[in-house]
Amino acid sequence: MTDLAFLNARRSVPSRQLGEPAPDDATLRRLLEAALRVPDHGKLTPFRIRVLRGEAKRAFGRALAQRAEENDPGLSDAKREKERQRYEHAPLVLVVSAKIDGDSKVPALEQDLTAGCVAYNLLLGAQALGFGAQWLTGWAAYDREVAKLLGMKKSEHVIGFIHIGTPSIEAPERDRPSYDEIVSVWTP
Ligand SMILES: Cc1cc2nc3c(=O)[nH]c(=O)nc-3n(C[C@H](O)[C@H](O)[C@H](O)COP(=O)(O)O)c2cc1C
Repeated sequence: MTDLAFLNARRSVPSRQLGEPAPDDATLRRLLEAALRVPDHGKLTPFRIRVLRGEAKRAFGRALAQRAEENDPGLSDAKREKERQRYEHAPLVLVVSAKIDGDSKVPALEQDLTAGCVAYNLLLGAQALGFGAQWLTGWAAYDREVAKLLGMKKSEHVIGFIHIGTPSIEAPERDRPSYDEIVSVWTP
């Protein structure tokens, strides 16, 4: 691939279209090491990654379904099942979090952006290795009980759940923002 072809081909694959195999441990390590190379104001390393696979991943899905029910005791069986199933599809989920240094003069927003770059690198890296990936958040990314379950203290929060696996379909292209709407030349 030359020039910008890789970025022009970038797209997410919906998590329900992701199956086995996921990257094996050695490949995952290479992917993670590459993804850590992000711009980072103050070199604070304000991010962490948790790997969910196999039974641990399924247990996380079950815990989310339970938490969803606690948040909404009237939750229908169908909705509860949908919550649980979110973690049944892709064989690998990486939880990217931002660990904010509140004493730093680097604004928290910038630390979040650095963690977001890690998440985006994981999407790019997974695709470069021939896998598919999708960045998901949903309510669980903002629920403090879920953060606690993942072992996060107050200063840490979820940036995204990156679902990775082998695509079962070629993900359809979606409309992309138009250049003319987005780009302008500023003049004083
Ligand atoms: C921070 C963030 C959170 C997202 N959360 C969700 C989500 O919870 N559910 C969802 O369907 N898509 C979510 N998306 C969108 C998908 O990751 C993806 O961008 C979308 O499926 C379009 O695919 P594309 O990446 O090829 O444009 C999120 C994207 C970002 C950047």
